[in-house]
Amino acid sequence: MRVRDQRQGWLNPGLERPIAPGSTRKISGCIKSLSSAASMRAAEMGDSVDPWRVPFCDGNSIPILGLGTCSLDKPVKGETVKAVKAGIEIGYRHFDGALMYGNEDEVGEAIRAKIADGTVKREDIFYTSKLWMSYLSPALVQKGLELTLKSLKLDYIDLFLIHWPTGLEDASGKILLSDVDFCETWAVMESCKDAGLVRSIGVSNFNHKQLETLLRMPKLKYRPVCNQVECHPYLNQSKLLKYCKSNNIVLVGYSPLGTSQDPAWFDPNNPILLNDPELRKIGEKHNKTAAQVALRYQIQRDVVVIPKSFNPGRMKQNKEIFDFQLTNEEMKAIDGINKNLRYITLKQLIDHPKYPFHEEY
Ligand code: A2P
Repeated sequence: MRVRDQRQGWLNPGLERPIAPGSTRKISGCIKSLSSAASMRAAEMGDSVDPWRVPFCDGNSIPILGLGTCSLDKPVKGETVKAVKAGIEIGYRHFDGALMYGNEDEVGEAIRAKIADGTVKREDIFYTSKLWMSYLSPALVQKGLELTLKSLKLDYIDLFLIHWPTGLEDASGKILLSDVDFCETWAVMESCKDAGLVRSIGVSNFNHKQLETLLRMPKLKYRPVCNQVECHPYLNQSKLLKYCKSNNIVLVGYSPLGTSQDPAWFDPNNPILLNDPELRKIGEKHNKTAAQVALRYQIQRDVVVIPKSFNPGRMKQNKEIFDFQLTNEEMKAIDGINKNLRYITLKQLIDHPKYPFHEEY
């Protein structure tokens, strides 16, 4: 099967330059008297553990707030280095990236510079990367990871995800849909963990049936620690979240602010999340923005959030979500604005046998 929208760079990062896209000290202002699961975790674990890290089933943990580094338009050279350095200075310790975003060299440069100047140690930083679709075949998994490590110039990454369940293959320059079995991909991901190249392994954009397939693998050695999916108040993923929680899988929410409205790809018929009157109204009550309310909503339901911003003012704003609490009524009101609206649809692969979004969740 041929892929409809053939953009070689988009489909084949690494084969040519891809296009774009601490010890977590206590996050400042963290309040302890929460009724959320985070506060219960804090109570159970005592004061020595950061309640704003979410535990993984493999014994590791992830900071509940991270900085997204996917720039949907082609990143301007140097922009990511500046943004990640600013993020570290502002206090972010968790960064979310991918081979596909085409800027891991800059993410690595920024992290290494902030280690070199003494601001952080490597172990303070949590970095996630993702294996692109064209590397799902077992023979290519390690190559995909090596491209990431080489770009970053780091020895290991903290979390490595299968970016999408949908494999692609390059047949003499033609990009074909590949029905590669992601369970086979997973077995190699497990060996990458054993080799110490990655600390934890998980998936992204899997529906619950695909997660189930993975969990039922006869020779499963490590369960996926997380599923990273689009998640925000217009697509609150309540069913998938319930499924993940019941299987000890952390849900990481990308596009928690409803994505960028870049006209190059944003459907102008879609409503803009941050203009939502309910989010704004609740924000006014707490003297917070709609963005801060959208992020706070997620962390109160144990969803890890990775808002993307390369603007230091907005990065700072997005971090100021630990000093207020939404009431149960406000949480319910935000549940009520869900529209099951997916901004990122990957329509180009709608005919792929493993296209994840035909399933309800
Ligand atoms: P910028 O990088 O200029 O700050 P998402 O994380 O849902 O994908 O959203 C990312 C988009 O939201 C980016 O366009 C980013 O732009 C913008 N953004 C990030 N933080 C905020 C904020 N606090 N208020 C409004 N827009 C924001």
